[in-house]
Amino acid sequence: MAKPITSYSCSECGATHKKWSGRCDGCGAWNTIKEDVPLSQGPGKKALGGLKGSKMALTDLATEETPPPRQYSGMAELDRVFGGGLVNASATLVGGDPGIGKSTLLLQAAASFARKGLKVIYVSGEEATAQVRMRAQRLGLADASVQLAAETNLRNILTTLEAEKPDLAIIDSVQTVWLDTVDSAPGSVSQVRASAHELTSFAKRFGTAVVLVGHVTKEGQIAGPRVVEHMVDTVLYFEGERGHQFRILRAVKNRFGPADEIGVFEMTGAGLSEVANPSALFLTDRDAPAPGSVVFAGIEGTRPVLVEVQALVAPSQLSQPRRAVVGWDGSRLSMILAVLEARAGISFAGLDVYLNIAGGIKISEPAADLAVACALLSAREDAALPPTTVVFGELSLSGALRPVSQAENRLKEAAKLGFTAAIAPTGCKTGTSDDLQINLQPDLITLVGEVFGAG
Ligand code: TYD
Ligand code: MG
Repeated sequence: MAKPITSYSCSECGATHKKWSGRCDGCGAWNTIKEDVPLSQGPGKKALGGLKGSKMALTDLATEETPPPRQYSGMAELDRVFGGGLVNASATLVGGDPGIGKSTLLLQAAASFARKGLKVIYVSGEEATAQVRMRAQRLGLADASVQLAAETNLRNILTTLEAEKPDLAIIDSVQTVWLDTVDSAPGSVSQVRASAHELTSFAKRFGTAVVLVGHVTKEGQIAGPRVVEHMVDTVLYFEGERGHQFRILRAVKNRFGPADEIGVFEMTGAGLSEVANPSALFLTDRDAPAPGSVVFAGIEGTRPVLVEVQALVAPSQLSQPRRAVVGWDGSRLSMILAVLEARAGISFAGLDVYLNIAGGIKISEPAADLAVACALLSAREDAALPPTTVVFGELSLSGALRPVSQAENRLKEAAKLGFTAAIAPTGCKTGTSDDLQINLQPDLITLVGEVFGAG
């Protein structure tokens, strides 16, 4: 049998150490390093769980239900992000900036599941039950049979959950609950980690689907949720720009379905409403054809989404011109500017460059390279692309264009929304769609010459 190893961890930042010391190398805090005590041996406390499950052969499992049993909320956008319904006995983390709408989303989800006959408990550590009730009333959900509790002591929460055995338990949020065996403040890494561990093991033992809410700031300042990501089955991020009404629920990890799947919602006065056709909505308030505006035919998860990429190029007053990006990766923008300069001779030196993905959506696909390059070229050359053209493709450092996956789906979505032409890399499998005029380009230089008449 393996020898038990004593380890130490910092109660401030969660860094683990082999030896005790007075000061943590990770965060610099003093007197925060403590020996890790396994929960089952906590001082004078009864073990919360106890070891369950004995070993079995993998082949014995084959007879068990292979697709995991799932529950459907009836909110199609939510069910899709879960990978096709919420899996029983699963643990999910829903992360997002404070105020983005996590509590609203989960209260609506709780009500939807309850209306489908599931037993749902919503534990709020942030709001009093009266407040949650008021919110439910405003959302028109007051009649749903969701049980509410305002509690932060995890021992009490687990006692209630073990007695009630609900189908779904929502803990809002994991930063507010605390365990009396852990000697640090609620919200600290060790509290969050221990609480998440207890709740996930509760989910596995009792077959309850547990959803944990976690606040994350843009700087990753608030301790916690990152360490929880490893413990849970599914990690969803709820994102959006505060000024925009769109909210996107994105699966960044999913043991039971595709990652990167998104659900699109709109924040209204009466809560979140589902957006079944995001492309149409992202493109609604498009201005007249303007230089710098290009429609990108993207794929988010399993479905195509059309979004507008906007670029603005202006003479700079600064010695180091500004490069500002919203909704895309800043270093990828630098890469594309470098490729345009090195491979097509188009320089942006002395120019400020602004790039914006309209609608508040964040794009991470490399397939957006070509749309970004076209937006930059269009802004730089002051030449608008026809407004009924979509663009997609990956740009390599050599200046060649690389085909991307699911070209046919992208084109189909574009045709459905009334687009008539597409610019894409040579080699894309475009299928037999003859609704669209497809302009295949092998590399950047040819594209610059043919599309923008420059070079
Ligand atoms: P909330 O769900 O409390 O955010 P989180 O739990 O992520 O911190 O949402 C708060 C925001 O949502 C708040 O700014 C108001 C807005 N909101 C609406 O616009 N409409 C609504 O019906 C509700 C309930 C909230
Ligand atoms: Mg909240």
